Amino acid sequence: MDNRGIGVFDSGVGGLTVVKEIFKILPKEKIIYLGDTARTPYGIKAKETIIRFSKENTRFLIKMNVKIIVVACNTSSAVALPFLKKENNIDILGVIKAGAKTAVLKTKNMRIGVIGTNATINSGAYENAIKSLNKNIKVISKPTPLLVPLVEEGWIDKKITKDVLYYYLKDFKKNRIDTLVLGCTHYPLLKQLIAKILPDVNLVDSAEEIAKETKEMLVSKNLLCNKNQKKKSRFYVTDAPEIFNKIGKMFLKEDMIEAKKTELK
Ligand code: DGL
Repeated sequence: MDNRGIGVFDSGVGGLTVVKEIFKILPKEKIIYLGDTARTPYGIKAKETIIRFSKENTRFLIKMNVKIIVVACNTSSAVALPFLKKENNIDILGVIKAGAKTAVLKTKNMRIGVIGTNATINSGAYENAIKSLNKNIKVISKPTPLLVPLVEEGWIDKKITKDVLYYYLKDFKKNRIDTLVLGCTHYPLLKQLIAKILPDVNLVDSAEEIAKETKEMLVSKNLLCNKNQKKKSRFYVTDAPEIFNKIGKMFLKEDMIEAKKTELK
């Protein structure tokens, strides 16, 4: 048993989709969340920058004495996870492996699509993870960078968002994928629209998958908490907590978000 918190970091507010899923299946656990709102978005930044920011976020959570770290950000997971694991003596989980594993289990026709930020797609991390599980699977990846700002604007069912999605997803129809990995923190909020455009495609939600993996890890290492700690969860941001709190309500429909501003040293 271990009553310390689960550390979760993201480039900003999107990682709350992961928090939501963790609370769903681990309702007693306390989460210590860091959103790097001062430097978001990560998805359009260079690899070295994403690695440096991710290392600083990890250091912050370790100082907060968490028992495990979940990298909610797909971009950080895709680009920085191996470096974070090498340098730190704590279990660190990223979203890529969990999403890839589920996609491989779900595909029947061996054609998987992946969408994510520019940095996630350019890293080839999902493609490598899928191919390492089954090299005969065809992976078709596409960066979809306009989706993050549309979601943060709250435009999750506007016509313009449907049009942008249709533009991005139309090639997947031609390519006859049967499974699509939603490789970004924000995309679970677009699931219904995506399902309308690609009705026969399995959608793999990386937030759901990483939450399951977190639970499995805590169970296998005997690290679950033994009393209800959820209310002690804390949310830290590197800039503008009021904006985080406002947008955050869309991601995590709970009143508990009262983010505090912090400095990363
Ligand atoms: N959190 C990022 C991700 O999942 C999306 C936002 C960003 O670009 O920082 O890739």
